[in-house]
Amino acid sequence: MTNDYLSKAKVLIVDDEPANVRLLERILALAGCHQVRCTTDPRQALPLFLEVEPDIVLLDLNMPYLNGFTVLEQLKAAISLEDYLPILILTADITVETKRKALTSGAKDFLTKPLDHAEVVLRIQNLIENRFLRQSMQRHNLDLERQVRERTGQLEDTLHELRTTQEQIVKQERLRALGMMAGGIAHDFNNALTMMLGYGELLHPWLEQNGSKREITYLDHIVSAAQDASHVVSRLREFYRPAEDNEIRLPVDLNEVVERVISLTSPKWKGKSRAAGVQIEVVSNLDKVPPVAGNAAELREVLTNLIFNAVDAMPQGGTITLSTTSDVDSAAVTITDTGIGMTPEERERCLEPFFTTKGEHGTGLGLSVVYGIVQRHKGAIEITSEKNAGTTFAIRFPATAEVEAAVKPQIARLDRTLRVLVVDDQEVICELIAEYMHGDGHSTACAYRGDEALKLFQKGTFDLVITDQAMPVMNGSQLAVAVKQHAPEIPVILLTGFGDEMLALGGRPPGVDLVLGKPISHAELRQAVYQAFTASKKLASVA
Ligand SMILES: Nc1ncnc2c1ncn2[C@@H]1O[C@H](COP(=O)(O)OP(=O)(O)OP(=O)(O)O)[C@@H](O)[C@H]1O
Ligand SMILES: [Mg+2]
Repeated sequence: MTNDYLSKAKVLIVDDEPANVRLLERILALAGCHQVRCTTDPRQALPLFLEVEPDIVLLDLNMPYLNGFTVLEQLKAAISLEDYLPILILTADITVETKRKALTSGAKDFLTKPLDHAEVVLRIQNLIENRFLRQSMQRHNLDLERQVRERTGQLEDTLHELRTTQEQIVKQERLRALGMMAGGIAHDFNNALTMMLGYGELLHPWLEQNGSKREITYLDHIVSAAQDASHVVSRLREFYRPAEDNEIRLPVDLNEVVERVISLTSPKWKGKSRAAGVQIEVVSNLDKVPPVAGNAAELREVLTNLIFNAVDAMPQGGTITLSTTSDVDSAAVTITDTGIGMTPEERERCLEPFFTTKGEHGTGLGLSVVYGIVQRHKGAIEITSEKNAGTTFAIRFPATAEVEAAVKPQIARLDRTLRVLVVDDQEVICELIAEYMHGDGHSTACAYRGDEALKLFQKGTFDLVITDQAMPVMNGSQLAVAVKQHAPEIPVILLTGFGDEMLALGGRPPGVDLVLGKPISHAELRQAVYQAFTASKKLASVA
């Protein structure tokens, strides 16, 4: 092991006595050390040292021109502080004073002349071993420091990610809590508003016959205020309501949504710019994007709100850019404006319901609706904004495989035809629903009143009842109860203009299997029939 050190070591010998130099060379060669450079001129010591970069220096003290102490000083200045480079003094003068002086000048050990061969080899071996071990320790330390630096960097990255995730979770939690609160408030408000609107409507025809003009006007004010409040509640509902199992998710082309919304909102941005004498330009950069599983009307509502906000943010005019992009598993739509931007606090809070900086001109519900819709579409919103520089909303939706998964159950059709009783006091609606049913191969009978429908039901054989809620004499929920008393296994779908409110109130009246809000599309109705029917079959088989 030690010989190995000697064979690798580079040695520099500085001694004015050629015989000494030769002797040392021989001793070293015998010990396996062959990388030896020598000089008998001490003035050459430093240049040679710099050239050879030795692992050890053997240095005589008594020399002409420069004595060993001066050479020692020169070498010390050339050796860096971290470098352990042993200098071994060769001297016949080994007084205590010389020793002390040499040691304080940086020498590491002594060899007294005449030289003892074995001692020379052992001392050189020790010093070199020491040097190499220290070098390896230094390398090790450097490596450790590098590893620590790398790990610290990784930890900092992880910590940053963790903080970002934590902030997002806190924000999500905050919005969830707000959603629950909003849901509770909306529910109670809905109860009160349903009463106000319902009794208001009942009172109206009576007042028209018996009341004064002023009373009718007062009632109109009450009803219209209740309608406004109900509109706010239904917007609030868009923020907190979770996705429902039977929600229709069809493949939607984001580019089509963008183009339609640009055209639908043009009166706002074109009209506004003209009226205010400023110019708002709308630019679109549409890429080829995969379809997303969604509800096109809701997605249009998202972009409409974002465009309206962008217009509001640009009182001096500017540019709104709508882009669509995609990657492997998602499609995104980005809307950027060159408007007033938001402060970090505004950006943090802008999705919260009722947060607005527009005073009376804003309800603060636009972005809450956006948030609710995007959540139900399993999407994510990223907002970047800088005060007085502009804002970007990037909304990413899952695409492809997830679309198929989401869409498949929606297009499921029943594998049998049904006999459907359709009930609505408006004949046209009855006809429309019947048309939808015929389109899916089912047969229908129509009734325009609840009591008539019940008679028909009791006489005939029906597999399903689709009924309106508000009808004279017997309304839809009363009909549902009567149907269930007669045939509990027959599913009843309640189709009503109050669908939203009813759902927000927490559900279905007794006897009703599904509540649907009007207006309803063919696909939505088909899905509902499928759902009501398969659910009732499941129940029947359990029973
Ligand atoms: N593009 C934007 N640039 C600057 N600020 C914006 C932008 N979009 C939204 N904001 C800020 O977020 C707030 C909330 O927006 P949100 O759409 O929810 O409500 P609103 O526009 O104030 O009112 P509403 O949409 O109900 O009429 C705004 O008042 C505004 O401060
Ligand atoms: Mg808005």
